[in-house]
Amino acid sequence: MLSVQNLSVHYGMIQAVRDVSFEVKEGEIVSLIGANGAGKTTILRTISGLIRPSSGSISFEGNEIHKTVPQKIVASGLSQVPEGRHIFPGLTVQENLEMGAFLRKDSAEMKTDYEQIFKKFPILAERKTQDAATLSGGEQQMLAMGRALMSKPKLLLLDEPSMGLAPIFIKEIFNIIQEIQQQGTTVLLIEQNAKMALSIANRGYVLETGKIVLEGTGAELLASEEVKKAYLGG
Ligand SMILES: Nc1ncnc2c1ncn2[C@@H]1O[C@H](COP(=O)(O)OP(=O)(O)OP(=O)(O)O)[C@@H](O)[C@H]1O
Ligand SMILES: [Mg+2]
Repeated sequence: MLSVQNLSVHYGMIQAVRDVSFEVKEGEIVSLIGANGAGKTTILRTISGLIRPSSGSISFEGNEIHKTVPQKIVASGLSQVPEGRHIFPGLTVQENLEMGAFLRKDSAEMKTDYEQIFKKFPILAERKTQDAATLSGGEQQMLAMGRALMSKPKLLLLDEPSMGLAPIFIKEIFNIIQEIQQQGTTVLLIEQNAKMALSIANRGYVLETGKIVLEGTGAELLASEEVKKAYLGG
């Protein structure tokens, strides 16, 4: 579904991503794990069309997208939940969800989608008319995920959804990610929380200073001595 080939990305003279190749197949959860500064967000933003690669290619459902504008990439079925959520302050929860659907015109179907999102995230239903800026961190993460789902993506890109959340919220977010997969959306999950991310992943990749150093199934990576030492505290 998504294929990243020999991707390199620079910020001026600094190379943040080095010859990275990986793929995400339809129906999978693929986790990309790595420490601070490894290049995870850079890869995600490049897939979304927000950064141009210096070399390599990205294709989504057989079409090259690394020269496509972000809005067209979203319209083709790929949606990103950015690091730090970036909900729209000053807008209500409901209005934030509407922003996620701005490319859609099927208003009847949208109504049932709102209902599904409120079913998935009951807290958002309770807070429909509340200013999104006043939500807690975990609630903002749910809103950002709900907003991304409103574009009906085939592939959902998540950038550190567990960041800054209490363990109980982390568990809930990861349960919802699995539910999203079961309902037919493919997921590329970027995380520092290697244990959680690998435990729900079909496959995973480990990124170190811009390079992929390991890959395998979620279970293989969880059992790997290198991953245990570097990411799981022994
Ligand atoms: N706009 C920028 N200009 C210059 N360098 C940047 C820019 N954005 C990121 N970098 C650098 O690129 C490297 C990769 O950053 P990136 O944000 O992709 O890492 P990350 O894996 O997402 O880290 P984190 O887990 O902390 O979010 C870092 O060394 C960072 O300093
Ligand atoms: Mg990041």
